[in-house]
Amino acid sequence: MRLKIKKILKADDKIIGKKVKICGWVKTIRDQKSFAFIEISDGSTLSNLQAIIDSTNDEYRKILEISIGASIAIDGEVVKSPGKNQKYEIKIDKIQIIGTSQEDYPLQKKRHSFEYLRTISHLRCRTNMGGAVTRVRNSLIYHSHKFFQDRDFLYIQTPIITASDTEGAGDLFRVTTLEDLRKDPKEDFFKKKTFLTVSGQLNAEAFACGMSDVYVFSPAFRAENSHTSRHLAEFWMLEPEFAFADLKDNVALASDYIKYMAKVALDENEEDIAFFDKFIEKGLIERLKHVIESPFEVITYTDAIKILEKSNKKFQYPVKWGNDLQSEHERYLSEEHFKKPVVVIDYPKEIKAFYMKDNSDGKTVAAMDILVPKIGEIVGGAQREDSYDLLKKKIEMKKLDLDTYKWYLDLRKYGTVPHAGFGVGFERLVQFITGIENIRDVIPFYRATGIADF
Ligand code: 4AD
Ligand code: MG
Repeated sequence: MRLKIKKILKADDKIIGKKVKICGWVKTIRDQKSFAFIEISDGSTLSNLQAIIDSTNDEYRKILEISIGASIAIDGEVVKSPGKNQKYEIKIDKIQIIGTSQEDYPLQKKRHSFEYLRTISHLRCRTNMGGAVTRVRNSLIYHSHKFFQDRDFLYIQTPIITASDTEGAGDLFRVTTLEDLRKDPKEDFFKKKTFLTVSGQLNAEAFACGMSDVYVFSPAFRAENSHTSRHLAEFWMLEPEFAFADLKDNVALASDYIKYMAKVALDENEEDIAFFDKFIEKGLIERLKHVIESPFEVITYTDAIKILEKSNKKFQYPVKWGNDLQSEHERYLSEEHFKKPVVVIDYPKEIKAFYMKDNSDGKTVAAMDILVPKIGEIVGGAQREDSYDLLKKKIEMKKLDLDTYKWYLDLRKYGTVPHAGFGVGFERLVQFITGIENIRDVIPFYRATGIADF
């Protein structure tokens, strides 16, 4: 029976002497003439499994045909490993070559730069780094579902094609079947202008106002022309939306969620996180422990501006009440001033989206951004405007099309309720948890301006 490498390496000594079959890709091969070592990986764990074949075995001649990157199946016996790096190894009885590799296999060396690996995204998961990211990402997604399911949030699905620009930032990808874009959108497939969604929030609100607590986990698309280490044109967003809740509840849920993710990484992905601690960010494990243990700082936008003004730091973008916080400001607050995640609330209403609830000061809205060291914003959310009249006014003030938002206003007409929610940029979360600096390295195949290969 085929066993995954993780099963074998995690087993106890009862496995010694058992006959097993393992399948995987060759990482290294060393021919010592009287015997040969093959290390193989199958993606299940960071460690490779070492297998040994004796030259007296008839199968030994096959060693010559095996090179790095080949896929093979091995039948053999589990024995205790004399080496100190692994508990068990396999004494090979039989080798089956499934797919040979070639001399130009791009992953011959032990280490490769992130830049180079981006040019071979289709092979990236075969490296230690690519495998570790893939496993951590998988685990964070699995446990995100668990976090919300345990709290009775329902997982809902929202459309990818939409007519509304939720965030009003104008960075939309148009969806059309028209050959000539100068034609009237009424002649288009949907008889109006449509786009790829930037967020599932508005649709999620409809379900929160009926099912109480829901969440979306979906791709989101933004045609932002920015070549930064934290922007993608296609990324994944996790968006809880819940009713009978205000901004305070929102801050609490988002903080609990981020802490939970840090704990998941340490508990469930110990080996991969230790690898990141060693090769990507020294002190990562300590940082994640700190995230779990210390409460997040919660400050108002107004206080954040005061801190930035007092910092005497030369920023590229001016610090002024009413201006949006730039990533350099966000990073100063979380990285240098508070040295931990910071929740900034109550932003000026001019710089935030139309759906956010007005505060009683008349100047700010019940917004919430979570800022973390090195990255800046990883979560954006708000309490939503639940008054029909105020929301209608806001839609008009932002010069949005009332017709498009008629259904959204209906939610305030039939049994309106205070409700709130937030969006987690999932790749930024993976960056935060792994310490990996560039967002392009934490998603299997990345999409950014000028890049849609693979
Ligand atoms: O702050 P944003 O724009 O908020 C919303 O879209 C709300 N509708 C969410 C909600 O309340 N349900 O985006 C949310 C998060 C950001 O904090 C950021 O982490 C991430 O999405 N994000 C991006 N991640 C990668 N690439 C991009 N281009 C991103 N734009 C936003
Ligand atoms: Mg935002």
